Amino acid sequence: MRSFCQLLQLLALGITPALSVPFASRDVEPSPTAALDYGTYQGVTSGSVTSFLGMNYAQPPVGNLRFAAPQEPEPFTGVADATTYGAACPQQDIVLPELLPKNVTITTSGGLVSEDCLNLNVIKPATASAGDNLPVLFWIFGGAFEIGDASTYDGSLYVERSIALGQPIIFVAPNYRVNAFGFLASQEVLDANATNLGLRDQRLALQWVNKYISQFGGDPEKVTIWGESAGAYSVAAHLVWNDGDTGGLFRAGVMESGPPISLGTVAEGQQYYDQLVENVGCSGEADTLACLRAVDYVVLQAAIALSPSFFSYQSLTLAWEPRIDGQYILRGGMKYIQQGLYAKVPVIIGDCYDEGTLFSFANTNITTDEEFLEYVQSNYIPIASDSQIEDLGEAYPSDISEGAPYDTGLLWALTPEFKRLASFQGDWLWQAPRRYFLETVSQTQDAWAYLYKRGSVTVPYLGAAHATDLLEFFTSIDYIAPDALIFFTTNLNPNAPADLESGLSKLSDITWDQWGSDASAPPLLTFVDPAPEVEITADTFRADAISLLNELMLLFP
Ligand SMILES: *[C@@H]1O[C@H](CO)[C@@H](O)[C@H](O)[C@H]1NC(C)=O
Ligand SMILES: *[C@@H]1O[C@H](CO)[C@@H](O)[C@H](O)[C@H]1NC(C)=O
Ligand SMILES: *[C@@H]1O[C@H](CO)[C@@H](O)[C@H](O)[C@H]1NC(C)=O
Repeated sequence: MRSFCQLLQLLALGITPALSVPFASRDVEPSPTAALDYGTYQGVTSGSVTSFLGMNYAQPPVGNLRFAAPQEPEPFTGVADATTYGAACPQQDIVLPELLPKNVTITTSGGLVSEDCLNLNVIKPATASAGDNLPVLFWIFGGAFEIGDASTYDGSLYVERSIALGQPIIFVAPNYRVNAFGFLASQEVLDANATNLGLRDQRLALQWVNKYISQFGGDPEKVTIWGESAGAYSVAAHLVWNDGDTGGLFRAGVMESGPPISLGTVAEGQQYYDQLVENVGCSGEADTLACLRAVDYVVLQAAIALSPSFFSYQSLTLAWEPRIDGQYILRGGMKYIQQGLYAKVPVIIGDCYDEGTLFSFANTNITTDEEFLEYVQSNYIPIASDSQIEDLGEAYPSDISEGAPYDTGLLWALTPEFKRLASFQGDWLWQAPRRYFLETVSQTQDAWAYLYKRGSVTVPYLGAAHATDLLEFFTSIDYIAPDALIFFTTNLNPNAPADLESGLSKLSDITWDQWGSDASAPPLLTFVDPAPEVEITADTFRADAISLLNELMLLFP
């Protein structure tokens, strides 16, 4: 037994002696339960991982709570089952464009779908218990704010891998309301304080983590938020929410294909609200929102299916998405960044190489220069002058070999303007605002960036399309991205720790410097073919075109 004096000496030397049973050698609870102050959940252990699935973090948003702010969960008695995933939120029906390559599939939900969907999953090392203070990785799924379900992403991959690396973490993933259920916007909705509900769901889930994760062995002060696509745009929103005051809810962020961008206003959402009201037969009612709350779910669902999706002609001008409401969101994301109103926490942000291709199959009747310019202006940048749109047309020329998928010469020109539109859309919503974000935040906090190029010259029409990097992040293909996220969650640095046992992680052989470390060639960790190859490339491509887009985006409120 160590004497008190010896202990003091050790602490003075900065060595913390192991006073408790080593983490990995503890017994695993055969039948784990979590007794929270509002109820008790029964989880399930499989191998080295324990999962508590589908726990409610809010009251079911049904009845009068449909299209209303999420409310703290109500107490319940007995033991609730948390051994299988909870329901996904209602999904928008997505009609695939005819010309989309037939082997592209879109996953919506994994199983049960219900309006009663505000649940989350906690996946943790089986031996973790209160007091372990493990770092937490909080995952926000994507799906254009129209579809998506936490149950389709296997968080146990992260937990198992983190144990193998000796850097155990806890994975948490909420469901949040999407499409009209989560992002209805109109004057009526504003008056009812019911805007941006999907983001407010996520925020409440983060508060749940803050309050309860220590009971699962997590540290509420070590939460990293991470999302892909709409999930990444959500992370971007949380970085600027309350002008960047995190409220202590997270300490780092990862944006996988989704930087801060300009946003539409609630007024611009009115048309979709009015159409929905009409389609469900609520027109003429004194209180249309009350009418929408009372409409039969099946009727409402069918009416939402008639609204435009990301595979409609208007593409990424989404009907249902976060909007400037003057209450939770005061300006576009780029404006928050420009004004310095963002959380100064370490970040990782990256994109796929050909982000825009997937979204250019529903606009194939755009075949001339004039039609391209007209579409870009009316659909995306009505605020731009004709001469600015002309400049844009020169920055993104008709020349097929300059379009996306990039580096494919004259191949894959579905129409004469397909590759041009794909290049513009990818830069407008991803590469340009990502670079603007990095130029700014690399001066105020630690920031790393990556680029996913696998498939860029081999996959017809799509290249390294949006979301193709999920293969890297959610499978054991080479554990480069997962390891980076685990190290980042634990140490706020995605590089392998110097004292990591050699041979454990491929990242030990790679030096991934911060984006701001080289002003003339900002480094991008670049995933290239074949896996597990990676290299460092310079974030300097299309510099002039991208600056022009950023100037135009900053014209928005
Ligand atoms: C809107 O709702 C939120 C969450 O319920 C509440 O905190 C806020 O005070 C409300 N704001 C107004 C103006 O009613
Ligand atoms: C292409 O089709 C869309 C949707 O049907 C239509 O609104 C648009 O005007 C058409 N554009 C051209 C250039 O034909
Ligand atoms: C679809 O099939 C083509 C042709 O077989 C193949 O080259 C391509 O990689 C596939 N695309 C996707 C996204 O799987």
